[in-house]
Amino acid sequence: MSGPTPDFWQERFQTQQTHWDRGGPSPQLLAWLDSGALPPCRIAVPGCGSGWEVAELAGRGFEVVGIDYTAAAVEKARALCRERGVAAEIVQADVLTYRPPRPFDAIYEQTCLCALHPEHWARYAGQLRAWLKEDGVLWVLFLQMLRPAATEEGLIQGPPYHCDINGMRALFPEAAWTWPKPPYGKVPHPNLVHELAARLVRR
Ligand SMILES: C[S@@+](CC[C@H](N)C(=O)[O-])C[C@H]1O[C@@H](n2cnc3c(N)ncnc32)[C@H](O)[C@@H]1O
Repeated sequence: MSGPTPDFWQERFQTQQTHWDRGGPSPQLLAWLDSGALPPCRIAVPGCGSGWEVAELAGRGFEVVGIDYTAAAVEKARALCRERGVAAEIVQADVLTYRPPRPFDAIYEQTCLCALHPEHWARYAGQLRAWLKEDGVLWVLFLQMLRPAATEEGLIQGPPYHCDINGMRALFPEAAWTWPKPPYGKVPHPNLVHELAARLVRR
């Protein structure tokens, strides 16, 4: 299987090489929540890592399911929810095979897609679509991490893998998802480059 394994991520957590981790919920998620754009619902957070977004959503009354296949991430996310006194389900599972017992109203995708080798992107996109009910919403941050060796030599480098917007349009085609019109909001990241924020509606 191409790309990182659970052992790769486990080691990152154990050696505190978690440069993607903001140490709190994403400002874009907070903006969506504070504006009322994303109201309480049943929501999935794939590749939830330390669980900052899971705990924030749970604290605001969402029915949250965080999904991560790395033991250390699951422990951290569960511990954070316990500390905060909020209830969320944290499932240890592979996002490429996970099947929810009931569909979700929404998905919050942040740095899980860019953590997967592009070879798995089509399958992952299919999973996200299958998890959502019709008219469900994918709240997504596409990580922009241009790699010169990709354009120069065709190398595929990551994680994080660059989520080029042309590729994203191919992965989440208009026939299956309603896209907003660009430009998309640019969300700075303290350690990575930046993300583009979009709200895609499942057709
Ligand atoms: C870059 S981290 C991002 C964590 C979190 N979303 C954040 O922004 O802080 C990627 C996370 O996805 C998880 N992950 C990667 N591939 C996965 C897979 N196939 N199934 C489940 N989790 C996965 C890793 O264990 C890791 O916690």
